[in-house]
Amino acid sequence: MKVTYEEFKAGLADRAKRRALLTRNGRHFFVLISQQFSPADLEELCDTATAIRRLDRHLDGRDFLRSTLRGVRIMNLFAQPSTRTAESFIAAADKLGASTRLVSDLRTSSFAKGESVEDSVRTLSSFFDAIVTRHPDDEFGTRASWALSRAQRVIPVISAGSGRSQHVTQSLLDIYTLRYSFAARGGIEGKTVVIIGDIARNRAARSLAYLLTKFKQPRIHFVSPKAFGPDNDLLQYVRAHGIAVDVHPSLGPMLEAQGKQVDAIYITRSQQEWDPGGLPTDPTDLGTKQEFILHPEYMEYVRPDCVIMHPLPRVNELPDAWEDHPGFVVWRQVRNGMWIRAAVFATVFGADAEIRNRARRLELL
Ligand code: CP
Repeated sequence: MKVTYEEFKAGLADRAKRRALLTRNGRHFFVLISQQFSPADLEELCDTATAIRRLDRHLDGRDFLRSTLRGVRIMNLFAQPSTRTAESFIAAADKLGASTRLVSDLRTSSFAKGESVEDSVRTLSSFFDAIVTRHPDDEFGTRASWALSRAQRVIPVISAGSGRSQHVTQSLLDIYTLRYSFAARGGIEGKTVVIIGDIARNRAARSLAYLLTKFKQPRIHFVSPKAFGPDNDLLQYVRAHGIAVDVHPSLGPMLEAQGKQVDAIYITRSQQEWDPGGLPTDPTDLGTKQEFILHPEYMEYVRPDCVIMHPLPRVNELPDAWEDHPGFVVWRQVRNGMWIRAAVFATVFGADAEIRNRARRLELL
């Protein structure tokens, strides 16, 4: 039965409906929000990423990987700037033998003539086998998925960042990085995480918070300016999953009092591109506020095994001095972006089980 766009969008809030709307043949097909992944899905996705990473170390493994999506064509439609996400999606597709095209200026497409999202993505589905979308509109990826779910040629849509709302593949790579970092310490469950910055407008921070609900966390601390704190929907969702949440107005006092209990710090930049005119016009701008900078002096408040993360790009909130901290994993996050996005492609195209099986046969997994 064909659903209206309003029904499709509303269905994403309900677990059973969401699964029906976003999966095909039991596989994630439209990758839009963190909430759509179950703990078992995350385990499988991380195993697939590890299998790809380890197979890629050997010539035979590379040849095998490059055969898995040979002939697949992927459109990367990026209406906002990107370095990491765009390039890691392209590198991920390349690892699996798929070809890609990147459109990063929508003024060169017929969007500029007023073509609807629906007609544009249906047109693209005639030439491509998947669409990766980054767009300032929170709902662009959702609308594209809805349009394609009704089309004759249904192809997957993967969000690469949806407005201020979610950055689902960033949170998947963040979870993959946390899982690796905590491998010898009992995994992600039971860990206390601090998320710092402009939570209201930082899609990476929001997606990570949603994804952390898949694990049993004792506590999440948000540290943000009052004007850009976590919204009620996010807070209620996290609390409904049994996670204690605190919201702090300043980083220093929080870390001084509780830093030794913190297992991971996830710091993000000011989202000044959303300010009027794209400039830091708000007095709470993080670039000028000292409260939301991870000052090197704070190192004494945290344990050496505390994991230090940032989705990048950074401005001044994570000084270079932190690169010497033993828990600094920011460059590992960047590299993991390629492995997890390759795992996402493998999953939506149904090549993931074959990849994991090959890695198991070679005792790489
Ligand atoms: N983390 C992230 O989304 O970076 P880019 O904006 O460079 O893609």
